[in-house]
Parts: sequence; C-alpha cells; structure tokens
Amino acid sequence: MTAPACVVGLGYVGLPLAAALVSAGQPVVGYDVDARRAEALNGGRSGIEDVSDAELGGLLAKGLRVTSVLEDVAEATTYVICVPTPLRDGMPDLTAVEGASRAVAEVLAAGDMVILESTTYPGTTEEVVLPLLIAGSGLTAEDFHLAYSPERIDPGNPTYGIKNTPKVVGGMTPSAAKAAVAFYEQVCDRVVTVHSPREAEMAKLLENTFRHVNIALVNEMAVFCRQLDIDLFDVIDAAATKPFGFMPFYPGPGVGGHCIPVDPSYLSWRVKKLGFSFRFVELAQEINDQMPTYTVSRLADLLNDAGIALSRSRVLCLGAAYKPGISDCRESPAVEVMHKLRHKGATVLYPDSFVPELRLETEILRSQELTPELLQLVDAVVLLTPHKDIDLETVTSHAKLVLDTRAAVTERSASVHRL
Ligand SMILES: NC(=O)c1ccc[n+]([C@@H]2O[C@H](COP(=O)([O-])OP(=O)(O)OC[C@H]3O[C@@H](n4cnc5c(N)ncnc54)[C@H](O)[C@@H]3O)[C@@H](O)[C@H]2O)c1
Repeated sequence: MTAPACVVGLGYVGLPLAAALVSAGQPVVGYDVDARRAEALNGGRSGIEDVSDAELGGLLAKGLRVTSVLEDVAEATTYVICVPTPLRDGMPDLTAVEGASRAVAEVLAAGDMVILESTTYPGTTEEVVLPLLIAGSGLTAEDFHLAYSPERIDPGNPTYGIKNTPKVVGGMTPSAAKAAVAFYEQVCDRVVTVHSPREAEMAKLLENTFRHVNIALVNEMAVFCRQLDIDLFDVIDAAATKPFGFMPFYPGPGVGGHCIPVDPSYLSWRVKKLGFSFRFVELAQEINDQMPTYTVSRLADLLNDAGIALSRSRVLCLGAAYKPGISDCRESPAVEVMHKLRHKGATVLYPDSFVPELRLETEILRSQELTPELLQLVDAVVLLTPHKDIDLETVTSHAKLVLDTRAAVTERSASVHRL
C-alpha cells in the first residue's frame, strides 16, 4: 500500500493540494495546528471556495483525515508544508514555517521527503527549514529529501488549477528533485525543475513582483489619465491587441490578498540585508498603497459635482473580498476603501454574497441584499469587487451615481464613471 503524504496547513493552498492528491489515489493525512480547522474539515466544512463541501465529503469518504495531533501523521513519508508567510511590521514572519518544520522534524524518518510550498524569500528552505529538520530529527541532510515548490494556485480561477498550471521544483540534491518531480507528477501535467530551492523560491517572487510592479504602472497612469480625460481601460484593451511584447494589467482600488501585497516585501527584505534597496518594489508599494485614497477622493469629487458632501453621503460598496469569486478579505482594498469612507463620515453599506459579515474597527457590518430599493436609497455606488452574481444592469439602472473601479460596466452612461 502507498504510504500517506502529509499536507501541513490546510488552507487556500493546502486543501486543494490535498484534494488533488486524494483524487489521484495518493493517501493523504492533513495536519493543521488549528484544532477547530481540523474539526471543521473532518466534519465536511471546507471554508474554501475551490473545494466545495460536497467535494470535501467525497475526499473524506476516500480516506482523507485531518488532525492536529502530530503522532497521527508519523506514518507519512512525504510532508508538504503549506503554512502562512505573512508580514509582521513589514518584515517576513516565518513563525508558521518554523513551527511546521519543527513539527515535521519530530516525525521525520530516514528516506522521507519534505517539500516547502509557502511563498518566502530565497534561501529559506536551505537556511531555515533544513537546519530545523536536522536539529529536530537527529538525522543528517543526506538522510532525507528536501525541496521547494512554489504554489501558484489562483483561488477562484476556473481555467487554471493544480493540474494544468506547471509546477516548479527545486531540490537540495538531484535525487531530492527527482523524488519531488515524481510526487507532483501524480497531480500536475507538467513539472519544471530548476537548479536548487533558491531558484524555485525566487521564481515565485519574480512572478508576483512582476504583477505588483505592472499593476502599479497602470495605477499611476490611471491617476494622470483622468486629468487628461483619457479612459485608460480603453487604452489597455487597445494595447492588448498587439500579439507580442505586451501583457494587459488593469488599474483598480489597490492590491489585495495574501500574495501580491505581501510577497514582494519578502524579496525586498532579503535584498536590504545585502545592503541594497529594491526600488521597483518600494515604488510599486507606494503607488498601490495610495489607490484606496485615490478611489475615495475620486468619489468625493463625483459626489461634490452632484452637490453632495461625502461626509453626509450614503455609499454602497459593491464587493468586500479582494477579488471576484472568493470570500478572502485579507488585505482587501475594498475593505480599505470602506475604512476610509467611514473616516470621512460617510455611511457605508456593502453587499457581498461571499462575505456575510465584515469587521470594520469595532463594528460588525452585515452584507446587504442588492435590491433596486437599496440602490435608490444610497447616494453613490462604488464597484470594488465585481463578483459574477452582481446584476450590473440592476445597478446601473437604479443607482444615481456609480464609480466603477474595475471597468466592469461596459455600457457608457452619464451616471457611471470609471476610476
Ligand atoms: N492563498 C493564495 O492564493 C496563495 C497562492 C499561492 C501561494 N500562497 C502561499 O501559500 C502559503 C499558505 O497560504 P494560504 O493562503 O493557504 O494560507 P491559509 O491561512 O489559508 O492556510 C494556512 C493553514 O495553515 C495552518 N497553520 C498555520 N501554522 C501552522 C503550523 N505551524 N503547522 C500546521 N498548520 C499550520 C493554519 O491553521 C491554516 O489552516 C503562504 O505562504 C502563501 O503566501 C497562497
């Protein structure tokens, strides 16, 4: 019988991976420090859009179990670490990666394999994870395989998932790389190897920094295009008809989620330790961080043109999640816009079918049903996260004023304004 693989950390990354492995016939045991998360998963409650409760039920029927008791995963021969890598005071916080490495070390046996998937700065696998595994297990580096493979999952993306998104793998040794490739080939159509974990760690940061910087480029353009009376969304769509040398990125109310606002800071922190500053990332951060403020000032101007003061207005913020199709509000620019509107004295209401409630400072806001009556009641609508279930026609036909930060409304009208 195939030995189980252990997925460590069953969140947005770990749970879909566990699901893909189980579906491919690989026995999986999940390990999560959060006992409530383990209990919810064992009870069939996924909490993640990419794995429905029904799908989770099927996985449990096929033998998936999640535990927060370390001894329960000792039978595993492969450990894949998918734990969070947030920032604390602008600096990498590797507490979870360290905790997970220490936990794996306690159950690691000779011949086992450990793969880190968490996004992190180059050198983490070798300089942080490897020493912890050696110290905690009493093994030597030659006794087990260690690799890094960045997770490229795009939650809510119906086109690209684990199977058809090539997987990058960097092993500490050629045999570690070979073992990791064989492991991922169970679930991925294509596995790409690089020289070592460092190149794999850096590849992920290049991808996300590329996005971060290009979003900042169009965000900065959006601000002056408004002054020039140019619709930048139109410009980008026109430029994107060029079949080579251009890739479209669109402006918006800011960048959100666990990755784009966070990952480039991991790289700039590492670069700073070399005595350099990573100017592109710093500039991109500065521009993207300004976008919620710009969105609010743009709305204030539009309300002013209608003879309404922002401080006395009722604003409907459409969508709270950081992007369409998911409930994740981490670093969501929509939430930041709501904060800023409230600080200016506006009354904020929000409909988001994915986010039933939202904490803004000490207050809990509840998602409203998007009805014609509600749209008529408010002074303005800010379209922040265009989930597919939002009926844009209802919005545009009943709202007095719409600020569409995502160019979701394609029909031009006097009451709809782009960022
Ligand atoms: N969410 C994404 O879209 C995405 C995409 C690509 C890469 N990543 C990266 O993947 C990593 C995981 O992100 P996520 O979004 O899945 O996080 P998440 O918060 O959704 O899930 C992480 C899980 O790990 C558990 N955990 C925390 N510390 C642990 C420990 N010491 N041992 C065991 N379990 C532990 C948590 O309880 C949680 O259930 C991060 O490095 C992130 O940057 C995320």
